[in-house]
Order: sequence, then C-alpha cells, then structure tokens
Amino acid sequence: MTTPDGWIRSDHDEWDIVSSVGYTALLVAGWRALHAMSAQPLVRDDYAKHFITASADPYLTGLLAAPGTSDGATTFPRLYGVQTRFFDEFFSSAADGGIRQAVIVAAGLDSRAYRLNWPSGTTVFEIDQPKVLEFKERVLAEHAAVPAADRQEVATDLRDDWSIPLRAAGFDPQRPTAWSVEGILPYLAGDAQDTLFTRISDLSAPGSRIAIGALGSCLDDDRLAALGAAYPGLNLSGDVRFSALTYDAAKKTKPADWLAGHGWTVEPVRANPDLQAEYGRTPPEVDLRVDQIMHSEYITATR
Ligand SMILES: C[S@@+](CC[C@H](N)C(=O)[O-])C[C@H]1O[C@@H](n2cnc3c(N)ncnc32)[C@H](O)[C@@H]1O
Repeated sequence: MTTPDGWIRSDHDEWDIVSSVGYTALLVAGWRALHAMSAQPLVRDDYAKHFITASADPYLTGLLAAPGTSDGATTFPRLYGVQTRFFDEFFSSAADGGIRQAVIVAAGLDSRAYRLNWPSGTTVFEIDQPKVLEFKERVLAEHAAVPAADRQEVATDLRDDWSIPLRAAGFDPQRPTAWSVEGILPYLAGDAQDTLFTRISDLSAPGSRIAIGALGSCLDDDRLAALGAAYPGLNLSGDVRFSALTYDAAKKTKPADWLAGHGWTVEPVRANPDLQAEYGRTPPEVDLRVDQIMHSEYITATR
C-alpha cells in the first residue's frame, strides 16, 4: 500500500481501518499476529490474525501467509510482542492492586478486553474513532468472541472532549483507573498531546495508574530509510509514509516530564531491550540497533 495524498493530516480528519491513521492499527495487529506465530512468543494475541484476514489488505495478508525469518522480517513482530507483554502486565498488576476500571486510549484492534483475566466487576472502556471500533466489533462478533470484562466502546475523537462520552458510557472519575496510552502519541500534535494528558489527569482519582508506550515515537521517513538500509527486508510499513501521519516528537513535551510535573509518581523509564531482559530474553543485536534509531520509551506512573 502506498500512502495516498489524501492521507495528509488535518485537525478533524477521520479514517477507517484501511486508511490514514486507522491503517496503523491494522499494521500493529499484523505484528502481533506474526509474534503469536513465532517459535516462543512472549504473549499470544490470537485475535490479531482475524483482523488481518477480514481486512483483506494485500500487504499484511501476504506477510501472514509467508512470514519471513530474516532480521528484517522478525524484528518488529518481536518488538511488538514485548510491548504487548508490557501492557498486559501493567493491567494485571493494576487489577492485583484492586483497580476495577480500565481505559484503553486509542484502542485500535487491542484485544485485551477479551484476552486478559480481568477480575469480576471490572469495566474496560475502549476509546477510538467510530469506524475503527465498528470494524473491530464486526470481526470479533464473527468469531463469537466474548469480552472477559464489562467492555464499553467510546467512539469519539481524542482531539475532542472525549471525557463527555466516556462518562456517558459509565466511567466514574471517583474510582481509581488504569489507563493505557499505546501507539497514539505520534499521531497527536503537541497541544493535543498535552490536552490528552490533562484530561487523563483530571479524570484520575488518587491511586490511578498509567502506562505509556511508544515504540517508534520518533519514526519518520529518514529513520525508516536508515533501518531499511541496515536490514534488507525490513519493510515494516507496507510503504505507509509515517511522516505524513505523525507530528514531530521533538516539538512535544516528554510524557514522563509532563506526568512528573502534574502530580504523578513516575517510575524509571525503560526501553524495549530493557523489557526483553526483564522477561528473561537476551535482546538480539538487531533490536539494540533498531532501538538506537527509534528510541522506544515505556513509562508507568501512579497518581
Ligand atoms: C498505531 S494504532 C495503535 C492501536 C492500539 N493502541 C494498539 O497498540 O494496537 C493508533 C490508533 O490510534 C487511533 N487514533 C489516533 N488518533 C486518534 C484520534 N484523534 N482519535 C481517536 N483515535 C485516534 C487510531 O484510530 C488507531 O487505532
């Protein structure tokens, strides 16, 4: 797929699962599907492959039909497997700590509401654009998937005041919340990112927790070109031009700094290779080099 001119960003742009920012949700689901097919997955998202099949996207269905074994082919599925484990563990730990309200910000095709072992009485709110959630709902219904928690969709735009539909869906700001912010920040301009964090903070009762993950928050065409040159076959995007979809991270507040300045206690920030070591894996050389270029950041904090 080549990024069409129509995918240029604007303040009120919308998308479905095969266009613009929506396609990135399909792309990362593709990496999770590939990770689940790998020899020793860290986590298994067995729903991810259903989204790729239903999309009929030629690039991603081709990848799943013939997963490569080169560094280029295996790196991003592995890095995303690590990221998936990070957020899975975050929600499990929050549940162990007694939190029964979770918000998955920019949920995309995240299947945690279905996959994780949520304690009874837990509500999981999923926020994303309407057409993304519609596609997800349709595919999961076709596979008779049943949520493992009270799952509430919040179909809205994160650049609008999403706290209104979130509350309307039953969110209670008096109860502590576990928030995941995965794979969204590159797609928000600096002021929209700050507003997102302000809204999250305003809705976070004491004891709330947040996890933020950005693999490729610095992803742009130059970095992709450098990676592609270093690792032939590292066609991680199906020719999506990330620079057309993302806003420059260098011009934004660093998420950990923002949280630390707004009443959150932030734990030491980790990178993807650090997480691999925690999960008992030795990061291969290729992952260290890719991370040098992409500067992954995994942040957890408590209110
Ligand atoms: C890279 S995907 C990540 C999806 C999911 N968090 C995951 O990791 O699988 C980015 C997601 O952000 C959503 N998104 C980006 N900007 C948004 C906005 N302004 N409002 C609502 N959703 C948005 C997209 O629709 C897409 O699902």
